Amino acid sequence: MWFQRMPLEDWFDTYQYAIEYDVGESAVKYLRFDELNVDLDTLPLRYGYHWGRPELRQLVAQQYEGLDANQVMVTNGASEANFAVVAALVEPGDHVIIEHPNYPSLYEVPRSLGCDVSFFRLSPQNQFRPDVSELESLITPKTKLISLTHPNNPTGSMISEDALGEAIALAESHGVYLLFDETYRELAFGKRLPGAASLGPRVISISSMSKSYGLPGIRIGWLASKSREILDAALAIREQVTIANGAISEAIALSVLQRKDEFIRRAQRHAAANVELVRSWMESRDDLDWVPPQAGVVALPWIVTGAVADPCAIYRRLVDHYKTFVIPGRCFELDNHFFRLGYGGTTDELLQGLERIGRALDEARARRM
Ligand SMILES: Cc1ncc(COP(=O)(O)O)c(C=O)c1O
Repeated sequence: MWFQRMPLEDWFDTYQYAIEYDVGESAVKYLRFDELNVDLDTLPLRYGYHWGRPELRQLVAQQYEGLDANQVMVTNGASEANFAVVAALVEPGDHVIIEHPNYPSLYEVPRSLGCDVSFFRLSPQNQFRPDVSELESLITPKTKLISLTHPNNPTGSMISEDALGEAIALAESHGVYLLFDETYRELAFGKRLPGAASLGPRVISISSMSKSYGLPGIRIGWLASKSREILDAALAIREQVTIANGAISEAIALSVLQRKDEFIRRAQRHAAANVELVRSWMESRDDLDWVPPQAGVVALPWIVTGAVADPCAIYRRLVDHYKTFVIPGRCFELDNHFFRLGYGGTTDELLQGLERIGRALDEARARRM
């Protein structure tokens, strides 16, 4: 078998409906259909446009200076966009460079397709910020693709606009494509990055309605690029897998993007308020450390060395006893002292979740677990 389950998705699928306090999720907590006022009564439930519904492509294209609707494909989540782009570009034996840590399918897809994957590592010592000179040292004559994610999941770190420009120039100068996952772009606490696809002919932006809009259940995302070659090849792949997007999902996405500013402002306010709650909680804990996130609704704290013997036992105890959910480092191919904390939930859920993490840590330390 080429493809294997990702430990992250396995963890989610096993526990997400069994817990009450979800402080692991990477999305702003979910919009409900009855909040949206979308009229579906006369919606034809036929196959959709294979590129995505034209009005939707138009609205997405407005987010990319200099691009038009013909340079956008609307997909079943950013996941399908990532799969289509990578499968369009690589052959077994090609070399790809993927930022790490990252949402795992960014590296699992090229790995499963037989690529030689090098990690471009973000480290807490460098505030999880990318160092473009290090990126350059990873490029080989066989490199086909560089894949970066900023704002980053799971660290919440940002690339600076200058560093993004340097990464794009580097990719262009080596004839390499750059996939830029900008799913959290709208949720920067400071200045937002420009849509990366606008910045170069070999850049592919991917993004999603799942995270910043709180709509993972509709499975809508997109890719945008000036590269006709990539767009056409990605269409050929998606026609083999899903053909088109769900009609109901496209109608919901369209309605939300028509009111984009309202939803994004709400999500920004929510994320900014919640991160402050996490910040004061972190300050109260001498057994945890972190790099405060610069965007989004996730961070990657770690249990300080020596504080507890077995972090995994704590994550299991949180699920089984405290009905609370964080994501263990192993789900990101990291040491288990790291865990992803998601603060996109309701304020009450977040406070309850943090309190339970604290209790589980205190308990483990008292028992020297
Ligand atoms: C950075 C990033 N990209 C892509 C995805 C996939 O999202 P979706 O397929 O729901 O759009 C995720 C989900 O966690 C993510 O965090």
